Amino acid sequence: MSDILHVKDLRIAFPSRSGPVEVVRGVSFDLGRERLGIVGESGSGKSQTGRAILGLTPPSGRVTAQRLEFDGIDLRGASAATWRRLRGRRMSMVMQDPKFSLNPVMTIGRQIVEAFRRQDNAPKREAKDRAMAMLEAVQIRNPERVYNAYPHELSGGMGQRAMIAMMLITEPDLLIADEPTSALDVTVQLDVLRILDDLVTQRGMGLIFISHDLRLVSSFCDRVLVMYAGRMVEELKASELHNAQHPYTRGLLNCLPQIDGGQRPLPTLKRDPAWLA
Ligand SMILES: Nc1ncnc2c1ncn2[C@@H]1O[C@H](COP(=O)(O)OP(=O)(O)O)[C@@H](O)[C@H]1O
Ligand SMILES: [Mg+2]
Repeated sequence: MSDILHVKDLRIAFPSRSGPVEVVRGVSFDLGRERLGIVGESGSGKSQTGRAILGLTPPSGRVTAQRLEFDGIDLRGASAATWRRLRGRRMSMVMQDPKFSLNPVMTIGRQIVEAFRRQDNAPKREAKDRAMAMLEAVQIRNPERVYNAYPHELSGGMGQRAMIAMMLITEPDLLIADEPTSALDVTVQLDVLRILDDLVTQRGMGLIFISHDLRLVSSFCDRVLVMYAGRMVEELKASELHNAQHPYTRGLLNCLPQIDGGQRPLPTLKRDPAWLA
C-alpha cells in the first residue's frame, strides 16, 4: 500500500499583538488508502491541519513544513494552477456545516453537475446521470427532488449528504472530513459514516476523519492521531486505544461513560502544564 500523503513537521502560525502564535506545532504523519482519525479538543489545531493540506489556510496564517506532499506533488508553495488541478478533484474536504460549503443560490443538482464537469468536461446529459447516481449512492431516497432543491430547502442531514455527493463525484484520492457528522442526529451520523466507509474500501480513497469524539473515531478509523495544543501527542492503532500512553489520551478515555458504568459521576479531565512541553 503506497502512501498518497506525507506531512512532516507541519507548522501554522497566526499573527497576534505579541507576535506570531503557532497553533499547529510540528505535526507529522503519512496517509495510505486508509481511514485516519484526528482527535483532540476544540482549538487543538485539527481543522487548521486539514485546511493546510488543501491550501485553505486563511491568508493571515503562515504555513511551513519539512515535507507536504500529495501523490509526489510538493504542496509547499504550489501554484494556483496546481491547486485548481487538485482541489475539488483529487482532494476534497467536507466541512462541518453544509451551509458554508454549498452555494445558496444554485440548485443542488447544478452544483454537483458543475463539480463533475469542471473535472471531466463531460456532456451535460452524462453529468446529470452521474449526479443522480451519486445522490443515490449517498442514500438519498428521492434524488430527483433533492437534485432540483436549493440548499435551504434541505434538512441538515440531507444537506450533508448532498455535499458529500458533490465532494465525491470527482472520485478524489484524498478526502478530509472535518467533523462531518457532529451536526447530525445519531442515525444519520451512522449513515454518513457507512457511506464514507464504502468509499475507502471500494474505491481505495484515503480518508482523514477529524473529530473531537474519541469513541466515534476509534470505532470507525484504522489509526488515530491525538492532538493537544497544536501538537500530535500520540499515534495509535484504533484497536489499541486501551494501550494509550499519553496522559491526555488516557484522561479522554477515562472520561468516556461506560455502558455498564453504574452511577459514578464522570471524572473531569485534569490538565498538566507538562503536556505542553
Ligand atoms: N484565522 C485565524 N486567525 C487566528 N487564529 C486562528 C484562526 N483560525 C484558527 N485560529 C486558531 O487556531 C487554533 C486551532 O484552531 P482549529 O484548527 O480550528 O482547532 P480545532 O479544529 O481543533 O478546534 C485555535 O486556537 C484558533 O483560535
Ligand atoms: Mg475544527
